[in-house]
Amino acid sequence: MLISKNMNSALNEQIGYEFAASLQYVAIASHFAGEGLTCLANHFYKQANEERDHAMRFVNYVVDASGRVEIPDIKAPKSSFGSVEEAIALSLAQEKEVTAKINSLVEQSMKESDHITFQILSWFVKEQLEELSSMDNLLKVVQLAGQKNLLYVEEYIARHHGAPRSIPGAPGPASS
Ligand SMILES: [Fe+2]
Ligand SMILES: [Fe+2]
Repeated sequence: MLISKNMNSALNEQIGYEFAASLQYVAIASHFAGEGLTCLANHFYKQANEERDHAMRFVNYVVDASGRVEIPDIKAPKSSFGSVEEAIALSLAQEKEVTAKINSLVEQSMKESDHITFQILSWFVKEQLEELSSMDNLLKVVQLAGQKNLLYVEEYIARHHGAPRSIPGAPGPASS
């Protein structure tokens, strides 16, 4: 086994956090879809898929390192939101928490002189920077727009993250 027992269980916990993040984004995306905010909904379905992809990257790494994958209990996501701002503030808080978890994995890999895990984690460190910055920006735009100008937020998403398109695994518009 290329990783220590402690590193193996820390990575398994991280797999749980990434799947939990994915479920939280599905909950947020479906809330936005229900409000008629199609661009926001698609953006968050896409984030959900990315978090699942993060979980799978960790799964593949544990397998490659001849460790044991044990997926922990996944916390149920929050599924009702008083406002768009509340849902996005929760997303930013979640990204901050995940960043802290990744940072502590990095510290553990340094303590164990586990250079392979350290190397694998460097991709996640960069990814967290991008996700934190993008979510922080989105929160600022939502705050600027206020509750009455959410259509501006829809336009912002379309401009910066692409127009709605079909996301694998996400429900599409109902066909008649
Ligand atoms: Fe992630
Ligand atoms: Fe993320």
